[in-house]
Amino acid sequence: MTISLSFDPSFDFDDHQLVEVRIERILPGGSGLAHADGRTLLVALAAPGDRLRVKIDRTKGNVDFASIEEIIEPSPLRVEPPCPYFGRCGGCDFQQLNYQAQLDAKVEIVRDCLRRIGGIESPPDFQVTPAPNQWHYRSRAQWQYDSIRKRLGYFEAGSRRVCDVADCAVLAPELQQTLSSLRERMRDGLLPEDARDFRALVGDEGVWVAPPVRVDSATVKPDTIDRGLSPTVGAGSHSHARDVTRTIHGETYRLNAESFFQTNADLLPQLIDAALSDAGGEAAIELYCGVGLFTLPLARRFTTLIGVESNESAAAFARENLANAGLANAKIVNEDVANWLENLECAGRDGALDRRPKTRQLTDRRQSHEIQSDVVAAALERIDFLLLDPPRTGAESRVINGILKIRPKRICYVSCDPATLARDLKKLIAGGYTLDSLTAFDMFPQTHHVETVVHLTA
Ligand SMILES: C[S@@+](CC[C@H](N)C(=O)[O-])C[C@H]1O[C@@H](n2cnc3c(N)ncnc32)[C@H](O)[C@@H]1O
Repeated sequence: MTISLSFDPSFDFDDHQLVEVRIERILPGGSGLAHADGRTLLVALAAPGDRLRVKIDRTKGNVDFASIEEIIEPSPLRVEPPCPYFGRCGGCDFQQLNYQAQLDAKVEIVRDCLRRIGGIESPPDFQVTPAPNQWHYRSRAQWQYDSIRKRLGYFEAGSRRVCDVADCAVLAPELQQTLSSLRERMRDGLLPEDARDFRALVGDEGVWVAPPVRVDSATVKPDTIDRGLSPTVGAGSHSHARDVTRTIHGETYRLNAESFFQTNADLLPQLIDAALSDAGGEAAIELYCGVGLFTLPLARRFTTLIGVESNESAAAFARENLANAGLANAKIVNEDVANWLENLECAGRDGALDRRPKTRQLTDRRQSHEIQSDVVAAALERIDFLLLDPPRTGAESRVINGILKIRPKRICYVSCDPATLARDLKKLIAGGYTLDSLTAFDMFPQTHHVETVVHLTA
């Protein structure tokens, strides 16, 4: 039986209503789309084709947010989620879909964002490259800690309550052992009471954990990383003794759990190849460069390169990684991307962006704008290639405006959020860029997240 959901201003959110729906498709954000009695429903943890009895949890405008009460007829795409915390833990929201259905949903999610948000009706054809490992792929994790209730795990879906997780099916085996080890210490009362979360990162040498956890009261090894899987060390700042090394696609990166690094290393060589494509030339800029994942390979292809990164520790690692690779042609600026672009713009407005001989530009404008390096001066010339890999929130308007002023010949946008990607592409395309190609990678199996790489030309 279908219960009418026609809009009633006296609708009582606590009076949870049940309604029967058929799921049409998966939307950006991961929910299943359904319609009933003129209303739109977004159903969590659904599969396309499911016939469901759902409960309306909350309503916003004409949209009801619902959860599954009963699966009346399961979709053929549905599988039994193997994780015992599925539905409670806020982590993996795609475990109910078979793997091909997850990939197909991600193609639709990207297309939907490009069309609805980006106004891009016919994007280039693309597929989502599958992950070699659909489970046990995460080499970075953040575990929430509730010291009062003695819970360690992830936040529950839509809440700040900690879901106590003993086994997580997407963690790399080393991290699973670290989690188990931390849980033993939690039981023994050995975790720092004031810790709110623990971040862990797998490196070639072992696992790095922050904040630091003592192995036992007698033996603390503050300057080493256990080759075994006990969490022993961690440091809040850039510290050589407490870093880990990752070797990706022939390049070596030092970093710690405080700096951003891609969660899934399996697809990184393909991601780097797709982002750099056949790029090469004189001058390149990389915005949001982190510890230098793309910076090192870019520095091998361009005469000069500037990387911009606001996190001090990540910028320091990027510099160290370039130096260790013997790459002196790249400069890392530790600054907010929007501010850095505006400073460049100031330099341009004051004359440095004109086409006078380079020597004159350098002497004129260097000091007043604290633009001190030859590499930065090169940014004031025509840029061959600009790569940006912003956080989930995408690039601010000030950033897109700054890019349009520099007007690089080619742009590569690496994105972990198709919605903000589409928003930013719309502005770049309105600014005169053409979308050449699009590639996507399943860096986050069992979740609705997808990594996308887009190339544009001026
Ligand atoms: C998605 S990560 C990409 C990092 C790097 N490309 C990688 O793959 O390892 C985004 C990076 O942007 C940095 N970031 C975030 N907001 C920023 C801002 N406003 N200005 C400069 N960097 C920023 C973060 O610290 C982070 O290192």
